[in-house]
Amino acid sequence: MTDFNQLWSSLLAQKKESVLDQSNQGWVLENSKIKRINSADDIDFNLHSALMFINSSLDYGLHQTNWQQHTIPFEDIQLWSPTSIDTLTLDFLKLYWPLAAINHIQKEKSFVLVHMAASLDGRIATKCGDSKWIGNDQNLKHAHRLRALVDGVMVGARTIEYDCPSLNVRHVEGENPVRLVLSNKLQNLKKLQPIPEVETLIVRDKEYQNKKIDSDNQDFLFFEGDNEKDKIENLFKKLFSRGIKSILIEGGAQTVSSMLRTEVVDVVQIHIAPILLGSGKHWACLPEIEAIAQSKKLKNTFWCKMGDTQMITGLL
Ligand SMILES: NC(=O)c1ccc[n+]([C@@H]2O[C@H](COP(=O)([O-])OP(=O)(O)OC[C@H]3O[C@@H](n4cnc5c(N)ncnc54)[C@H](OP(=O)(O)O)[C@@H]3O)[C@@H](O)[C@H]2O)c1
Repeated sequence: MTDFNQLWSSLLAQKKESVLDQSNQGWVLENSKIKRINSADDIDFNLHSALMFINSSLDYGLHQTNWQQHTIPFEDIQLWSPTSIDTLTLDFLKLYWPLAAINHIQKEKSFVLVHMAASLDGRIATKCGDSKWIGNDQNLKHAHRLRALVDGVMVGARTIEYDCPSLNVRHVEGENPVRLVLSNKLQNLKKLQPIPEVETLIVRDKEYQNKKIDSDNQDFLFFEGDNEKDKIENLFKKLFSRGIKSILIEGGAQTVSSMLRTEVVDVVQIHIAPILLGSGKHWACLPEIEAIAQSKKLKNTFWCKMGDTQMITGLL
């Protein structure tokens, strides 16, 4: 039986580990605890409940045994388990294990995951901005787990205005990520609940730099570039160089859509509530297309249960 509290603590510890060197190939999960492996000798296949490799094509002959490789939307990571693994443990591993390991993958840009709760007709809020709560309690706890595993959490100014969030991890064990808020006009930023010990960065265009902010304790980053794509790519480069190497984008629609348009998003995760709003904000507003063949198709998708409903995760 998996001890999920112990497994969660082990994932948090893994996120903080020093980055893997050449001799490490990944991790093994044994009795709800995770440890590094350097070779096949570190693995007792009768004991272990899962394996994760990064940047590696090794499988230690697992494909010839009763182990299976799972589809996850992380191209540099392989996840294996015995076929007898239970669904709860497997879903937990698929959702959180790669994120705990993401900083070990050598990349030149920050990893970006979008997570939102949408109605069956793809809306994330009513026309007047109400969105509490489209997702259920399990989704809320899940969002806090994601925050605990990333370096930064990003939202747009109107999400602050409507939702008055704190963007912290109060429902789970873990550390709060840096808070990143996109806002030129800097209105209503007082609605972002203050957490003195957590860094908050406001991102805006240089032309607004003299505009006075109506809130304290915040630093600024500026968009640089002549167009939306340059501005956002430069922003992610700056965040990466500040050590913010994994970013969770929680909305709203305008923010997520600009990140999708500029193609900086790696993984999309949508909790789908069994409700119809019929009007309101769609989470993805992209340039019009004529043919289905032109659509953005998610790869390596998997579905998992979130209480009374489902969530889809996929690679863009
Ligand atoms: N269901 C869910 O999972 C979920 C999650 C989050 C939010 N929501 C809901 O979504 C709604 C808010 O979404 P929204 O689409 O109206 O707004 P939003 O994306 O939260 O915020 C938009 C604002 O962010 C700033 N911004 C965003 N992208 C920018 C960019 N690329 N460059 C510069 N500034 C940028 C601008 O602020 P300035 O005008 O200050 O420049 C813009 O007006 C709320 O109703 C909220 O409750 C739902």
